[in-house]
Amino acid sequence: MGSLGASMPGSPLPLPRRRGNTRSPRAFTFGGTDCSSIHPQFLSVLKVVMAVSLTAICLVVLQQAPSDSRHNDAKFSKHEDGVIHVLVTGGAGYIGSHAALRLLEEGHRVTIVDNLSRGNIGAIEKLQHLFPEPGRLQFIHADLGDSKHVNEIFAKNAIDAVMHFAAVAYVSESMAEPLRYYHNITFNTLTLLEAMKVHKVKTLIYSSTCATYGEPKEMPITEDTPQVPINPYGKAKKMAEDLIKDYARTTDFSVMILRYFNVIGSDPKGRLGEAPRPELRKHARISGACFDAATGIIPGLEVRGTDYNTSDGTCIRDYVHVSDLVDAHVKAMLSATPQQVGIYNVGTGRGSSVKEFVEACKAATGVNINVRYLDRRPGDYAQVYSDPSKIQRELKWDAKYTNLRESLEIAWKWHTLHRNGYNSTASA
Ligand SMILES: NC(=O)c1ccc[n+]([C@@H]2O[C@H](COP(=O)([O-])OP(=O)(O)OC[C@H]3O[C@@H](n4cnc5c(N)ncnc54)[C@H](O)[C@@H]3O)[C@@H](O)[C@H]2O)c1
Repeated sequence: MGSLGASMPGSPLPLPRRRGNTRSPRAFTFGGTDCSSIHPQFLSVLKVVMAVSLTAICLVVLQQAPSDSRHNDAKFSKHEDGVIHVLVTGGAGYIGSHAALRLLEEGHRVTIVDNLSRGNIGAIEKLQHLFPEPGRLQFIHADLGDSKHVNEIFAKNAIDAVMHFAAVAYVSESMAEPLRYYHNITFNTLTLLEAMKVHKVKTLIYSSTCATYGEPKEMPITEDTPQVPINPYGKAKKMAEDLIKDYARTTDFSVMILRYFNVIGSDPKGRLGEAPRPELRKHARISGACFDAATGIIPGLEVRGTDYNTSDGTCIRDYVHVSDLVDAHVKAMLSATPQQVGIYNVGTGRGSSVKEFVEACKAATGVNINVRYLDRRPGDYAQVYSDPSKIQRELKWDAKYTNLRESLEIAWKWHTLHRNGYNSTASA
């Protein structure tokens, strides 16, 4: 994957091949004989034959190219009535890939920009496989911190709207590496906004988080709950929100900021899933940890705190299904209005305890996961759940996948077919 960086800046890349047998460069030998020992006349004939053969091969390859990138380019660089061309940043990641799938299913045109630092090229390959027609999906390997490259992407493509998912997104990592989080989240959002301004792209759907609220005193959390984030991840996201809101005040920008609660699940048709890199396991979110425990990758789960003031003493969180979340994005995009910033919580409004989650995971996987109940972890708060009434009322959105066990069953099925993430050979 590292070799992708050698591509021309701004140009849509053909998909990089999976890692295979790579040979180290060796001296050219022919039939076991070093070239220098061949007769000069024979060498000249050989050169001509090789040149002719190579030309012929190139011509055949050009004629047979199935998805003609020249046609692709033309479609991506022109606006088309009735088709929204959406730039999906972070589209190789968990939520971004599910959003790209939904947009493609709805007939929109998608350009994914991702630096593959965390996402999966396998997710892009799956999407390319599902939507191979010219002008549907292109992938551009780029880092959003590279302002020149980002501007080239906007210059070459007729983008109508941006869904900005790309980010590093682990609270515990942000505590250890705060500067990385401010750079990746806040600075990159500024770079993106500046490019959108220059290239007159006026619709933005921004991925924010309930972590921007910090530790609210009252539940449920509404959009008016004060934002007092308590870790660099939440602070960087709030700063990015502030940048967006301040810029939007000065323009006819259409902005939707969606503050997600805990995202779980995977595509109900089994085409995509959640596959974080193994090295991120130590930051794992709850469903990833449950699945790792069910597969025996980790010995079991540790639940911290059993004496909270909740129904069963464990913490309560609001789990929203990724398909419901991308539905909120599509509705937000279609409702975005110039000179307005819409801010919405995206959660179910129903809290589930950690104990309930673990039981649902045991039922979904059929594995009696080993669970240790320990003392509270400093900094955890008892309950976090949303009041989704604003998004229900204004965007006509509601969570459909609210049965934890069913959602986890689907995600588990994908997981068992993809034990090595998207690198697995089995596919749904
Ligand atoms: N997963 C959750 O529970 C959750 C909850 C609230 C908010 N969010 C937000 O949703 C968004 C997506 O999260 P996710 O869970 O899909 O994460 P993810 O790690 O699966 O996906 C993020 C993607 O962004 C890409 N990326 C990161 N930095 C980049 C850069 N500088 N340039 C280009 N690409 C870059 C990564 O390679 C990855 O593919 C994030 O903004 C996150 O903060 C997630």
